[in-house]
Amino acid sequence: MKDALKEFIKPGSKEEALVNKIDFSRLPQHVAVIMDGNGRWAKKRNKPRVEGHKAGSKAVQEVVETCSRMGIKYLTLYAFSKENWKRPKKEVRTLWELLFNYLRKESNVLMENKFRLNVIGDIEQIPKKARKELTKVIHQTREYDRFTINLALNYSGRSEIVDAVKKIMDEERIHKNNVDEDLFSRYLYTSGIPDPDLLIRTSGELRISNFLLWQIAYSEIWVTPVFWPDFSREHMLEAIVDYQERERRFGDIKPKQ
Ligand code: IPE
Ligand code: IPE
Ligand code: MG
Repeated sequence: MKDALKEFIKPGSKEEALVNKIDFSRLPQHVAVIMDGNGRWAKKRNKPRVEGHKAGSKAVQEVVETCSRMGIKYLTLYAFSKENWKRPKKEVRTLWELLFNYLRKESNVLMENKFRLNVIGDIEQIPKKARKELTKVIHQTREYDRFTINLALNYSGRSEIVDAVKKIMDEERIHKNNVDEDLFSRYLYTSGIPDPDLLIRTSGELRISNFLLWQIAYSEIWVTPVFWPDFSREHMLEAIVDYQERERRFGDIKPKQ
């Protein structure tokens, strides 16, 4: 995988120096990103917020390419929270349109590279046009397992937990004594996907904003002041290098290998 990444990195660049620091045998399996700061990026440039979202969808392409070439297995991107419906109608409409355009433009790339697209969140409430395109691409890519792009759309960590409880209660055969953490995890939207090893948040906010509440119990957190549209390959590589310098102890007194 190192070669696939090196192929598109300029020799002698800062990116190359970062790649050389990465231990490819200890990559995070799953990276989750709270893509924040589109609005502030636009404001700084005296542009409407929607321009920030447009620029943000370009950053998505670069991060997808970087992570897949690096050999990361799962990339979860927080693109729209349940709480984001509170925003002005026009902004919300643009966000769903951008998703539609992204899918239209990128679905061939996903297929050619055998990337799987998965969605976590309440998909039923997503506007029809975007939803139809989403279900199509999810279906087309469902057999691929090389690299999964997990889009958090109309997502709420608390709703996910409540939904899991409801599903467990529907399964009349399960006795409460048989409910444990592994079983519970299987009822979450992320069933079958390992917990994120690394959680990145852009734009400097030090909060979780209702994202993957259960799954990030032991994730390493990396926050950068960079606004999402400016988040580049170099920042992703920096996050990985920093992650690999951490000691993950999971409550023990010695690091877990
Ligand atoms: C993140 O950027 C994109 C979404 C939440 C959809 P924001 O739109 O939250 O940008 P800021 O935080 O207002 O700068
Ligand atoms: C979190 O960002 C949601 C997404 C990135 C999709 P927000 O901008 O909505 O979060 P808050 O409101 O700052 O907590
Ligand atoms: Mg924000």
